[in-house]
Amino acid sequence: MWAPDQSASAAEAAGVPRHVAIIMDGNRRWAARRMLPRQIGHRQGVEAVRVITRAAGEMGIRYLTLYGFSSENWNRPADEVSDLMGLLKLFIRRDLAELHQNGVQVRIIGGREDLEPDIVALIEEAETLTRNNDRLKLIIAFNYGGQNEITSAVRRIAREVKAGRLDPEAISQETVAAHLDTAGVPDPDLIIRTSGEKRLSNFLLWQSAYAELVFTDVYWPDFSPERLKEAIAEFNRRDRRFGATAPAQSSTGKS
Ligand code: IPE
Ligand code: IPE
Ligand code: MG
Repeated sequence: MWAPDQSASAAEAAGVPRHVAIIMDGNRRWAARRMLPRQIGHRQGVEAVRVITRAAGEMGIRYLTLYGFSSENWNRPADEVSDLMGLLKLFIRRDLAELHQNGVQVRIIGGREDLEPDIVALIEEAETLTRNNDRLKLIIAFNYGGQNEITSAVRRIAREVKAGRLDPEAISQETVAAHLDTAGVPDPDLIIRTSGEKRLSNFLLWQSAYAELVFTDVYWPDFSPERLKEAIAEFNRRDRRFGATAPAQSSTGKS
């Protein structure tokens, strides 16, 4: 079992962000550097997911979003796509019981229509089993793209307008947020990207409006709880102003 987590107030007082999101990048370069096949890099990446999820739970992070497969990753060779699909299945099959025992709620965001039925069934099983857990919300972005997500939200809002259920003048930022895959999830406070790349690659485009961005050169399979703590320390050195002149009072931002 995981060590008990800090209470929400103790975690906040210790500077632990409420929502951390990670662009897990660099699996193939990690493998290439060791002259290993790339699937070993992806496999080690899953090990890092397990370690970091546990560390996040024990530190008292409430929401952890992990970018596992982008809507653009379909452009990779078919065998690599199939390895990545297989790893999501393996992760759910192997880790779901332990995540559930430790009070983790699992949610997968991204398009499901292009996924194989067996993956969709596993995703639904994971979400249903863990729906009432609230120690840590683990959100896995899989077949996710921020532009697709916003486009789908716009389409759904337009349908409500067309059906006469929504007045266009009543559409607010909250309306848009409520139609995203992340409805109900507070915006990330901290977005970390590993592997030295400095871009969002279509991750949480709407939700990242006021996130602090931390980039580290470490490849994802080498990312460790120590590195996570370093990124959080960097986050705590930042002044979050949210457009105002004085430093904002809250380290967790708006909900
Ligand atoms: C991250 O590692 C995993 C996914 C994007 C699925 P990469 O596979 O992108 O590895 P690099 O960035 O090419 O080293
Ligand atoms: C972003 O990594 C997607 C994930 C981490 C799942 P990529 O490796 O696909 O991004 P680019 O191609 O370098 O922008
Ligand atoms: Mg990459």
